[in-house]
Amino acid sequence: MTLAGKTAVVTGAARGIGRACALALADEGARVVAVDRDDCADTVAEIAAMGGTASAAQCDVADEDAVTDLFATGLEDGPLDILLHAAGVIHEKPLLETSAAEFDRVIAVNLRGSFLVGREAIRQMHANGGGRIILVASDMAYYGRETFSPYVASKHGVLGLARSWAKEFAPAITVNAICPGPIDTDMLGPEHMSPEWRQREMDALLLRRFGRPEEVARLAVFLCGPGGDYITGQGLGINGGSVLV
Ligand SMILES: NC(=O)c1ccc[n+]([C@@H]2O[C@H](COP(=O)([O-])OP(=O)(O)OC[C@H]3O[C@@H](n4cnc5c(N)ncnc54)[C@H](O)[C@@H]3O)[C@@H](O)[C@H]2O)c1
Repeated sequence: MTLAGKTAVVTGAARGIGRACALALADEGARVVAVDRDDCADTVAEIAAMGGTASAAQCDVADEDAVTDLFATGLEDGPLDILLHAAGVIHEKPLLETSAAEFDRVIAVNLRGSFLVGREAIRQMHANGGGRIILVASDMAYYGRETFSPYVASKHGVLGLARSWAKEFAPAITVNAICPGPIDTDMLGPEHMSPEWRQREMDALLLRRFGRPEEVARLAVFLCGPGGDYITGQGLGINGGSVLV
């Protein structure tokens, strides 16, 4: 129980990577505030069934007032120790078919959302004397990719926030970005990606499979615990070998 007595805000916690991180942090003893634009009741119930402690808050991370309210009034579980910010959206379309409104939405959720949630978490941690910030970027924070340019740009920006905040708030607050490669969540499910796309992606990976949300959650737990004591300003890859840099 390396996180006993800690309070963690986890965004994107209704499903996928955020949900797996919420469960894993709670399993290590953290009290979890599960945040999503959707209902997090299932995540909270699962944590309670495990014997953990969690509450749910509904919030659009791109909405400044909603995020400010969440941190001003929504955290009744004690001082904030950990932010795991996983809320995000994907966008796959050729550039010449992409509207400005689509670009704006991806940037608003992925980049502005990271800015807003990170700023309010850091505001509290700065006042309380320290904490751990983990943003979820992507392996696409390291390279360009055709038909994903707004998403790629947003994730380059998320990594830039993490690196800059690490410098601005050291040594009390560590700030890192997890940069996953393809992880088997709804984001890569049939609503967004074809079976042919998924197979091509898997074939191109050194480890020949998509990652599991629980594997990303293990890295998050490591960063939040003693293993993360000397890690800040990094983009940590967990990608099955999609990136060799
Ligand atoms: N799945 C992957 O292959 C992969 C790879 C690299 C990075 N990521 C990143 O990991 C993070 C989690 O993705 P996932 O794969 O779990 O996707 P997911 O679609 O399963 O979950 C994303 C969650 O974010 C929530 N969300 C979306 N917009 C929101 C908003 N405006 N306000 C609050 N909540 C919002 C959704 O409701 C959902 O619960 C994202 O930032 C994503 O870009 C995912």
